[in-house]
Amino acid sequence: MSVTIKSPREIELMREAGRILAITHEELGKALRPGMSTLDIDRLGEEIIRSHGCIPSFKDYNGYPASICVSVNDEVVHGIPDRHHIIQEGDIVSLDAGVIYKGYHSDSARTHAVGEISPEAAKLIEVTRKSFFEGIKYAKPGNHLNDISQAIQAYAEAFGYGVVRDLVGHGIGEHLHEDPEVPNFAQKRKGIRLQAGMTLAVEPMINMGRPDVCWLDDDWTVVTEDGSLSAHYENTILICENGPEILSMQDSEKEEMRRLGLL
Ligand code: MF3
Ligand code: CO
Repeated sequence: MSVTIKSPREIELMREAGRILAITHEELGKALRPGMSTLDIDRLGEEIIRSHGCIPSFKDYNGYPASICVSVNDEVVHGIPDRHHIIQEGDIVSLDAGVIYKGYHSDSARTHAVGEISPEAAKLIEVTRKSFFEGIKYAKPGNHLNDISQAIQAYAEAFGYGVVRDLVGHGIGEHLHEDPEVPNFAQKRKGIRLQAGMTLAVEPMINMGRPDVCWLDDDWTVVTEDGSLSAHYENTILICENGPEILSMQDSEKEEMRRLGLL
């Protein structure tokens, strides 16, 4: 499969998918509290997605059993919701969700602090989020894919963090995963030249310690090998003539982004 350029109609549908996904994250972020199970989060997420006429794209994707990936503390991504896994004060919780609207996908992730967390954990979440914005500064026609990858890695590593190598971002559209792969670390090659109309899911996964990860026996949950905390931040973006449009950005974030000069 090669990298596709989306038509104006496809872009409209992806905007709507992104808008609904942003609402889903907004609601989940507000609902998240100690005492909830990770399955409670999944149930709520699925309900919100379906109430907006969308389909949760992760459900049954390659056999994944839920709608929302809930990954706690040293879990990097693809945590499986479980009614016995209770969220605790002080946890950091990564929520990854995907929706399909009229055949078009949007995919995004946020890491939340539950109650009071350590300053170190808060820093990891913040740097992971900022690494995404460092990367997408280069999401412009004429630049190359590796410009994004390289910038994410350089930013995160300057804080001594480990950038996960075993999982990458991706093109997105009619399918959840399309070409190209979008690594969060520099490649030997420049990668494809970016063009207006390309849609990408850019998703840095950053560990407080080493970059190495392993898979639990459930064959889904990815954890840090050294047990360090991990954070995830993902959005679906559209490459426009002047730069990126973030299709899955939450309204509550837009104001802050503008204040920080990130938007
Ligand atoms: N955001 C994840 C990704 O890009 C999707 C989760 S995979 C699933 O790979 F199987 F859980 F759907
Ligand atoms: Co993704």
